[in-house]
Amino acid sequence: MRGGLFITIEGGEGAGKTTLIHALAHKAQQQGHEVMITREPGGIPIAEAIRAVILDTGNTTMDARTEALLYAAARRQHLAEKVLPALEKGMVVICDRFIDSSLAYQGYARGLGIEAVWEINRFATEGNMPDLTLYLDIDPEIGLQRIEQNGEREVNRLDLENLAFHRRVREGYKLVEAKFEERFITIDASVSPEQIADQAWHHLEDKIAGKHKI
Ligand code: TYD
Repeated sequence: MRGGLFITIEGGEGAGKTTLIHALAHKAQQQGHEVMITREPGGIPIAEAIRAVILDTGNTTMDARTEALLYAAARRQHLAEKVLPALEKGMVVICDRFIDSSLAYQGYARGLGIEAVWEINRFATEGNMPDLTLYLDIDPEIGLQRIEQNGEREVNRLDLENLAFHRRVREGYKLVEAKFEERFITIDASVSPEQIADQAWHHLEDKIAGKHKI
């Protein structure tokens, strides 16, 4: 069994992932755990460079399969260079997005097929899956409104997709949940950030306790 704990946070646009990640990291640190926060696509120079290509609002001609392969390539590099070494040191790794984003966005919302995108990601991850995935579920209309109100956040190529796309992303996550019930927890993200953090922490604490059981 690998050491450490690999936690991924998923959600549509404006669901509140960043706020939650910082709250969880803080609580885990208070309990004496070594925590690493990271994000996809990116987290290290090679993956950040790939991210810049994917999210460039000028790249309007990008083919959907190219997009899926680039996400998988960035994921592989980030996993090999950053996530796996931290897990080997026994750290709690909290990652903003992972494989489920590709399944929901490219597999379902872009229409490539969840199974097809799962296949290329199996190659990329070699079976290194999260111990726990917390999905922040929000009506995309509310999520997009939250983003518009948050003027500091950069607007990327996927934000520019229409509401129907973001609705499909949400449906995609529901299918992903059904495929990975054992690790995938949905949290209602329409409530306050404190309530979201409390629920999420409850699940994370259970995982930490489970991991330390002999
Ligand atoms: P980011 O600025 O990190 O947005 P967010 O704050 O919503 O996480 O941009 C990441 C975008 O990339 C986001 O729109 C979701 C999308 N994405 C995919 O489509 N597939 C993937 O595999 C990943 C990791 C992200």
